[in-house]
Amino acid sequence: MSRKVTKAIFPVAGLGTRFLPATKSIPKEIMTLVDRPLIQYAIDEARAAGIKEFIFVTSRGKSALEDYFDSAPELEAALEQKGKTDLLETLRQTSMESGAIAYIRQQRPLGLGHAVWCARRLIADEPFAVILPDDVIAAETPCLQQMIEAYEGAGSKGCMVAAMEVPQERTSSYGILDVEEDMGALVSVRKMVEKPKAEEAPSNLAVIGRYILTPSVLDTLDAADRGAGGEIQLTDAIAREIETTQNVYGFRFRGQRFDCGSKAGFLQA
Ligand code: G1P
Repeated sequence: MSRKVTKAIFPVAGLGTRFLPATKSIPKEIMTLVDRPLIQYAIDEARAAGIKEFIFVTSRGKSALEDYFDSAPELEAALEQKGKTDLLETLRQTSMESGAIAYIRQQRPLGLGHAVWCARRLIADEPFAVILPDDVIAAETPCLQQMIEAYEGAGSKGCMVAAMEVPQERTSSYGILDVEEDMGALVSVRKMVEKPKAEEAPSNLAVIGRYILTPSVLDTLDAADRGAGGEIQLTDAIAREIETTQNVYGFRFRGQRFDCGSKAGFLQA
């Protein structure tokens, strides 16, 4: 059985209400950071890490995303005619190879765990990545690539989540790790809690939006109850892996993370 990570799920079904009115007609993931939409950063990071299949979990009103990754024959012809080869190349980097990209709809906003579960039939019996495009990570070696290297180094077993220390008063915005053994970049995880209050958080080591998961997480999600905020939480499903003896690791990546799900983070990025 191949244990290489070649598939990635991009949950992009969110309404993006924090960016209204902009998101009234454009998906949040299409909002641009300098010259590229947010989603392009996530795709570039996945490609650099060797991902070959890209699974988008979308919702109503996100068709601009599908167009973005399609080829644009009229535009390409016009650029070609004008000899604008640089721009042509830039444009071509956005269109995906046929069959490399799939779109699944999450019909109801039941949470991140539910969004990932919606893609279950496209994941075979192999580990897969999840990338939350809101978390933009500037790094010399792209974050997911760092994680895949660490995951393979640890025997390609269990689950791995990107992790970063956050101020204690911010724990209620994140999944938080209860660390069993701190090995430096890598920590083994004893428990995970979604959005605990500062005084109840087991640490200030937070989950950032990059995951490598074993397919058994999808089975767990199958039977998952609602958790924090009344939503089906990915954090809870990963936490359950620990109980069934799967290893779960946190990985302190090298790089700077920007929370582009918030206006302040977006501006900073
Ligand atoms: C999600 C996850 C949370 C994680 C965070 C990272 O929360 O549920 O565990 O720490 O992403 O950005 P959200 O920001 O979607 O509420």
